[in-house]
Amino acid sequence: MCGIVGYIGEGQAADIILDALKRLEYRGYDSSGIATLEQNALHLTRAVGKLSHLEAALQSKPQAGQIGIGHTRWATHGGVTEANAHPHVAGNKVAIVHNGIIENYAELKTELQAKGHEFSSQTDSEVLAHLFLDALGQGQTGSAAMQAVLAKIKGAFALAVMLQEAPDQLFVARNASPLAIGIEDGLICVASDAMAMAHLTRNVIYLKDGDYAALGVDDVQIYDRDGQRANREVIRTTASPALIDKGGFRHFMEKEIHEQPEAIAHTISAMTAADGALRTGLSEADLSDIQHLVILAAGTSNYAGQIGRYWLEDIAGIPVSVETASEYRYRAPAHLAGGAVIAISQSGESLDTLMALRHAREKGMKVIAIVNVPESSIAREADVILPTRAGPEIGVASTKAFTAQLTVLFALAVDFGRAKARLSAEDVAELQQKLLAVPGAVGAAIASFEQVQPVAQHLKKTPSCLFLGRGRLYPLALEAALKLKELSYIHAEGFAAGEMKHGPIALIEDELPVICLLDEDTLSAKTISNLKEAEARGATIILIATQTIAKQVDFASFKVVIEDCDPLLAPIILAVPAQILAYQTAFEKGTDVDQPRNLAKSVTVE
Ligand code: F6R
Repeated sequence: MCGIVGYIGEGQAADIILDALKRLEYRGYDSSGIATLEQNALHLTRAVGKLSHLEAALQSKPQAGQIGIGHTRWATHGGVTEANAHPHVAGNKVAIVHNGIIENYAELKTELQAKGHEFSSQTDSEVLAHLFLDALGQGQTGSAAMQAVLAKIKGAFALAVMLQEAPDQLFVARNASPLAIGIEDGLICVASDAMAMAHLTRNVIYLKDGDYAALGVDDVQIYDRDGQRANREVIRTTASPALIDKGGFRHFMEKEIHEQPEAIAHTISAMTAADGALRTGLSEADLSDIQHLVILAAGTSNYAGQIGRYWLEDIAGIPVSVETASEYRYRAPAHLAGGAVIAISQSGESLDTLMALRHAREKGMKVIAIVNVPESSIAREADVILPTRAGPEIGVASTKAFTAQLTVLFALAVDFGRAKARLSAEDVAELQQKLLAVPGAVGAAIASFEQVQPVAQHLKKTPSCLFLGRGRLYPLALEAALKLKELSYIHAEGFAAGEMKHGPIALIEDELPVICLLDEDTLSAKTISNLKEAEARGATIILIATQTIAKQVDFASFKVVIEDCDPLLAPIILAVPAQILAYQTAFEKGTDVDQPRNLAKSVTVE
């Protein structure tokens, strides 16, 4: 999280950096700032809150300079204050922006304080500025100072540094956090995401972990972690240069909910071979050799993995475990031969998932990635990429990327089932037809906005609620609860409906909303019994269900009903009303739907 930008060129750096930061605001929106250098003087503007506050500050006091760095912050160390906002400046000679966490900052700060350095923030990042100042004080050049600083710090980071004594250069480094360098005639720029500078240049270099660089216009010097000059390939980025707008919708999330039929259809068509057959892109050798799968992911992507497990086991007969990436990394999982991992990530940058992937690779496992951002770190480190074609997702809460991930996972189950001869050609064709019907069914489910409205009105007044589901709809209950809590700040927990009687039922008291995801499958009668048990104890029952089964639940206070669909694919289709419920409830409560408090779209810290 946190977005960093740097620019040297002929334009006004502050304007160009502000524009790039707008494209990076998804990475954090606690505070922001820009430093420029002009006629030997460092200029600094910082503001707490959304980027619009920084924009207003710059309008009232424009900042000159053709070189600069900028930052949008997701707070880790130190509260959301102007003093803790980046860039951090030391001795009026050094300005830095940083994304990541310096794990040993406390001891470094103590050492620097003993040398007389004074700090004005509570951040780990300010230590970097003072380490540079210290190194420069010992007569080191910018590159040598960077090397000395990197030798001292521990953690995951991407940083950009501007020095008063080097007005034509920026110094950058990365370790586990993303950083891209953009090169064009007459300008050089850096950003946490190539998308932020794709309107300036399509020529991009991705630094490797441990790399650092001294950058000037027409002068790129890259060094590896041993200080040796390194050549890194210049690629043509596929990142979109367009600044995405809301297209007439109230929020990006609302727009992205509506984009799901298209996102799913694109994802299916990218997995359709010239002869019309469903092919995920995994080789025939992999499809037949891989004997079991470990899915690594965080948050919503993890819930997609949990739903995918049902399909992979049921359709393809492959044993699957789904791991919380942040936990897996620090375990010593017993690895069986013949397995592969699937890392699922919308952003492709979640540090927990990236590190879990590396952990698995060290154990010799093949890495498959399901990612939405093709140039992301996870995509670049995977052996095989199975892309979701959801297009850029801007709303912090994942919607269209989730249903596109489910689409890939379903197709993967079919592909494995075919290659392992568990499915006949007829079975495959039938499952493919079912998948092809999903975009239309999702389109129809989007019409549930109206039905959701009274439920949202009701829920907005409640402090807490439960979501229930069984089978494939159990992980969807977890996802629905996450969506509601992150957007509306209402406490929500998801449970397997059958698990209620083992403890959670104690939570039920008069009028507690119990929201159940239900479709017509072999478990639905059992789920209805579980709901009855909740109703008998005073819960207000809210149903999100397919048409026919919904009719059997005459004791629900509210119903959001969608057309009947194949139970196998119901998690994708029922996800839509669940998303709409979270969206509408947040809208009714007046919370910030696209940028909920304390969250960021790309989580690049541990
Ligand atoms: C919730 C949400 C998060 C992400 C999680 C993983 O709506 O979006 O839970 O799913 O932070 O992010 P990615 O998929 O980018 O690795």
